[in-house]
Amino acid sequence: MNINGNILVTGGAGFIGANFIHYLFEQTDFTGLVINVDKLTYAGNLENLSDISQKYDDRYRFHQIDICNYEAMDVIFTKYQPQVIVHFAAESHVDRSIHGPKEFIETNIIGTFNLLELARKHWQDRQDVLFHHISTDEVYGSLGETGYFYEDTPYDPRSPYSSSKASSDHLVSAYFHTYKLPVTISNCSNNYGPYQFPEKLIPLMISNMLEDKNLPVYGDGRNIRDWLYVEDHCSGIWKIIQNGRRGETYNIGGENEWENIKLLHVLCELVARKSGKDLNKILDLITYVKDRAGHDRRYAINCDKIKNELGWTQSVDFSQGLEKTVEWYLANTEWIENIKTGEYQKWIDKNYSNE
Ligand code: NAD
Ligand code: TYD
Repeated sequence: MNINGNILVTGGAGFIGANFIHYLFEQTDFTGLVINVDKLTYAGNLENLSDISQKYDDRYRFHQIDICNYEAMDVIFTKYQPQVIVHFAAESHVDRSIHGPKEFIETNIIGTFNLLELARKHWQDRQDVLFHHISTDEVYGSLGETGYFYEDTPYDPRSPYSSSKASSDHLVSAYFHTYKLPVTISNCSNNYGPYQFPEKLIPLMISNMLEDKNLPVYGDGRNIRDWLYVEDHCSGIWKIIQNGRRGETYNIGGENEWENIKLLHVLCELVARKSGKDLNKILDLITYVKDRAGHDRRYAINCDKIKNELGWTQSVDFSQGLEKTVEWYLANTEWIENIKTGEYQKWIDKNYSNE
């Protein structure tokens, strides 16, 4: 598809959305407007885009809006008439969904429904437009020791987070079949890289190591995740937007499976080497804690479809990607500090104070 209109990004102040906006400006030939709509929850951070808003102020717009607010979003659609919607906005952390699922239902399901309704209203029968929905491999459930998630693996979500994402995927797909809305969906494995909120495994562990805090390993530490550098996720999304077949789902993954505890050991060595901290002292911080409720055992993506159809492939090898990530967090301790002293800390104090 020839993209000569505007791109509306939802959730662009979060981890992947911010990386995607960087990617659009810095690594593609897209020349139109990028409109970032973000509610700025605890996870949204405009610091992630301060360089973009300065350097590209003629082509970048930000609006602080909740995607559940139909009227406010209607104004955005009328004003900017986007050609492409890239929908990242979501509540994204499994542990938080266990403590309080309501916001996950509201944003992930009702918010997505609102956007679909608005796209249908504003686009009518246009086919030179696209609603691209960002989703997760967690909708497929949990794997045993063998096997992979394929695009046609039946959905079997286990957490409030993954079931809310599964629900939104089904709605997106329904709008394609029912209303012929041009849509694509990507289901990606665990991302890592710069700007990831330090509640997720990799940045949480790095930041705790730097502060000499315990490194909490859930259960036996042998759960497996398939890790992908965030920029490779962004390049996959861009390929789908340009050439993906409408109505299709594409899996994106790292083909890079790690047991949590093994990954943590690699991370400890890397942080020790880069920060000059004592490795043995860091290793002593590793603490096995109570397992996450309903903790999925293993995720592993088969991404042959996007590779074969769209010529996508991962470009960042895991050791290089982890090294870049650790370097980024070491160089941006103020970024971590700003997050940890804000709204997020208040939420942690309220919800975890008795544990
Ligand atoms: P994140 O939590 O870092 O960012 C989410 C962003 O959405 C934040 O900026 C937040 O302010 C915004 N937001 C939340 N509710 C909103 C609302 N009601 N209205 C407007 N904005 C709202 O999440 P992330 O890790 O960047 O994930 C982005 C998307 O990618 C999500 O849809 C997630 O399900 C999906 N995903 C994430 C991963 C991963 O490893 N992080 C993997 C696969 C898919
Ligand atoms: P996480 O980053 O929350 O991603 P997801 O649950 O969406 O895959 O967690 C990745 C893995 O790390 C998961 O198996 C849970 C585990 N984990 C811990 O062991 N300790 C922690 O403090 C966190 C946040 C996660």
